[in-house]
Amino acid sequence: MNSELLVSDAAHFRVDYEINPYMHTSVQPDPAAAVREHDAIVSAHLAAGRKVEYVPSAPECPDMVFTANAAVVRGDRAVLGSPPPEREAEMPYFQEWLEERGYRVVQAPYAFSGQGDALAVGDLLLAGYGQRTDPRMHEVLARELEYEVMPLRTVGARWYDLDLAVAVVRTGVGDAGVLAYCPRALDAPSLGRLRALGLDLIEVTEEEAERFALNLVSDGSVVTMTRGVPRLADALRERGLRVVELDTTELSKGGGGVRCTALTLDNPPVKPL
Ligand code: ARG
Repeated sequence: MNSELLVSDAAHFRVDYEINPYMHTSVQPDPAAAVREHDAIVSAHLAAGRKVEYVPSAPECPDMVFTANAAVVRGDRAVLGSPPPEREAEMPYFQEWLEERGYRVVQAPYAFSGQGDALAVGDLLLAGYGQRTDPRMHEVLARELEYEVMPLRTVGARWYDLDLAVAVVRTGVGDAGVLAYCPRALDAPSLGRLRALGLDLIEVTEEEAERFALNLVSDGSVVTMTRGVPRLADALRERGLRVVELDTTELSKGGGGVRCTALTLDNPPVKPL
């Protein structure tokens, strides 16, 4: 899990518009610091032994560094994101990248935040809605990717994507699965569904979640995450995970963290019967 990732770069990262509450056009990233920050994240993935694929960012796409919203990928299939109009220009670049590598790419017929709202746990897909994803997408994801879909509604614009409210830490066979989540970010029926899974659930405070604590990439043994959220970092170490904490100050000006900058390419495919 998460041992093959698609990243872009921060060369054109800017705040040209405000489509989430963390973005302010008056607070721009420092271009050189943003590139260094993103490079450090990529280096951390490589140091953890992950394979990193690359799609260059386009000058007219200031949010393209956040590749997680491009699609959700399972095996050789991909369902493209259908983002807010401000980010639509990114999609043809991602579509082309995926199609050139032989992925069977399906367009989303409704609003869809890609992996931002679609976190795989084996054959189960935690599927966010309520902000950037139309719940009618759940049926599309179940059909096209053959996932069992668990809808989780995020409440409020701070949780505009599920990957700010829930993190998949470990799915492994043998070991119990581990998720982390911010209870205040989900509605009551969604909390009930999540808790009924019988997984080890780490609770994260709103304060740490707002600092992109849950926006992490875990391969089940190494967790690459933002710096400055010690409670979650400690809870992960207690469970035997190795934690690599990185500065995400510049990316946070766009409303994103580590998870937003990496589209997972190795979600296990559907098992043949
Ligand atoms: N500025 C970007 C947007 O609002 C950030 C996207 C972060 N992606 C994520 N998966 N949460 O679309």
